[in-house]
Amino acid sequence: MTITIDRPEAPAGPPKLDREALLRAQRDTLATPRMAYSLLARMMFKPVDLLYGKQGSFTKFAMLEIIARVPYQAWERVGYWAVHRYAGRSALAKRVFERIVEARSDQDNEQWHLLIMQDLIERDGMRQNWLLHKVAPWFISFFYYHVSWVLFLVRPEASYRLNAEFEDHAEHEYMTFVAENPELEFMPDPGTYAAEYGRHRSVADLLRQIGHDERVHKLDSLENLKSPRYSSAR
Ligand SMILES: [Fe+2]
Ligand SMILES: [Fe+2]
Repeated sequence: MTITIDRPEAPAGPPKLDREALLRAQRDTLATPRMAYSLLARMMFKPVDLLYGKQGSFTKFAMLEIIARVPYQAWERVGYWAVHRYAGRSALAKRVFERIVEARSDQDNEQWHLLIMQDLIERDGMRQNWLLHKVAPWFISFFYYHVSWVLFLVRPEASYRLNAEFEDHAEHEYMTFVAENPELEFMPDPGTYAAEYGRHRSVADLLRQIGHDERVHKLDSLENLKSPRYSSAR
């Protein structure tokens, strides 16, 4: 016998946009000033610029995507700790769990970004060196992970703010890169992860979509900032 129950669905992630909406999203980003980045955020952006260049590139974006997943992972970890702590208070435990689900979905989204970047690097035949593309991202991620969870425990609003700055930076980097490299309009989207991520007309549109995802992540973090502590969430 099959029992049918109502099951909540996993979040679908940021919306997929059509070409018109992607062009609009890019115009919106380029017309919006960057956030005022904190010292901590600049401490992350500076070494990335020094190691991978100020200009955008697939290799630089791959590096940014490796570290982009880190705060969501840190929040997920702290979330599980909080769920156990609030296990006897179902309403609060549920709210914490909603944030955990959101953090997991955002990690998956960042993971697709990384796989797409690595695929573009492979196809372009770019070389990645071990020190610059394996060891350095590991060190930066390690630092960011611990900063994220400690900050989240001490001052959750600062952790959300830091992530919003990181996402704002990523959004502007992608949209600017597309604007500065018109040849990307004529490079077809290889669609390697079409089934999981969707397929666009060109690599330019694919990167615009990723840039828009970063904007959605930023807005989510700014929204969470309004009720940063689990005990006062919503
Ligand atoms: Fe990303
Ligand atoms: Fe992101």
